[in-house]
Amino acid sequence: MKIKKLIDRKAHEFEFVNIAQLEKKLINDISNLDILIFDRSIIKNRLVKKLLYKFSSRSLIIKGEEKIKSIQNYSSLIEKIIKKGIQRKSIIYSFGGGTIGDLSGFLASTIMRGIEHVMIPTSLLAMVDSAIGGKTGINSKFGKNLIGTFNLPKKVYISSDFLKSLPKREISCGFAEIIKYSLIDSKQLHKLLISKSKIHINKLIKLSIDSKFKYIDDYREKLNSKNSRAILNFGHTIGHAIEKSNFYKGNLKHGEAISLGMIVELKISSLFNYCPEKVTNLIELLKKYKLPVNYSKYVNKKTIPALIKRIAFDKKIINKDVNFVLIGKSGGFIKKISIRDLKSILYQIN
Ligand SMILES: NC(=O)c1ccc[n+]([C@@H]2O[C@H](COP(=O)([O-])OP(=O)(O)OC[C@H]3O[C@@H](n4cnc5c(N)ncnc54)[C@H](O)[C@@H]3O)[C@@H](O)[C@H]2O)c1
Repeated sequence: MKIKKLIDRKAHEFEFVNIAQLEKKLINDISNLDILIFDRSIIKNRLVKKLLYKFSSRSLIIKGEEKIKSIQNYSSLIEKIIKKGIQRKSIIYSFGGGTIGDLSGFLASTIMRGIEHVMIPTSLLAMVDSAIGGKTGINSKFGKNLIGTFNLPKKVYISSDFLKSLPKREISCGFAEIIKYSLIDSKQLHKLLISKSKIHINKLIKLSIDSKFKYIDDYREKLNSKNSRAILNFGHTIGHAIEKSNFYKGNLKHGEAISLGMIVELKISSLFNYCPEKVTNLIELLKKYKLPVNYSKYVNKKTIPALIKRIAFDKKIINKDVNFVLIGKSGGFIKKISIRDLKSILYQIN
């Protein structure tokens, strides 16, 4: 199955392949001018072993984690790549989760003013989110993804076979984003997620890609409140604040914090009478995909001041409005809420 979408009139192509098909394509396509970047977690994969054997001198193995998206790591890797020898027609092939994808994309877009990047996302989150849309980036000490480019990969190969080795907790984090799409946009996705029958993961990945594309057909933040990229942030305003406030010393993964954020933001939607009965359904759905639902452990009278401070800091606003994503009958939309109102709303839903 192939998907081709346009971003700023440029093609963004996805191909769903099994591991044998991927092997055939890559062995055929990769040349000795190219660079291969692998997440250390997948080096036992049979295809990865083969590629590492065949292209050992052109390969880099990195442990996929947020830390690697640093300026220091970027600088050391780019020198290593240049030392290996590179030409304008060289291609970077990256195999890994979102951290490897973001970093490799940034490397590709800056080496020799830009070489091509082929992405092979191996985490569920990368397949349904970070490999879509061409955002690349690394972190500054002042915040996440503050340094980056927009650079569409030449191709994205989706092989759900990689998910066999992905830890269950990481699978659940990917599901948090799929659940998000089902709320902001896709009724079809929602039906599949609640269904009792077994659904092929590729179907969920494809619908997630379709969904994300409704909000990102260009790189700019759109102004209309129905299709703005900002709607993709549903669950993230509160979720990030929970994650960053680090109340329990980082024991929450990003997707888990977003799940809690989605519950709180849906509760806010209910408070405004936009969607009366969905909160309990969301909680059931999150439980089904083994995501946490104990939001009151993180959002309570004691934590609200710190959360509000964090939101104001993240959005760089004081006493002004936050573009909040709420859910109504026909999906996600933006509503401006002042920091002061948000604070009193959080106390009310508690
Ligand atoms: N560019 C974008 O538009 C965009 C969108 C969303 C998120 N992101 C970025 O994505 C990153 C998060 O991505 P992530 O959740 O994939 O994190 P990650 O890259 O840290 O991967 C999560 C964990 O899974 C492991 N892993 C990956 N694939 C595996 C496999 N097949 N088998 C076993 N282990 C495997 C990794 O080693 C890591 O330990 C963040 O840095 C975030 O900023 C980017």
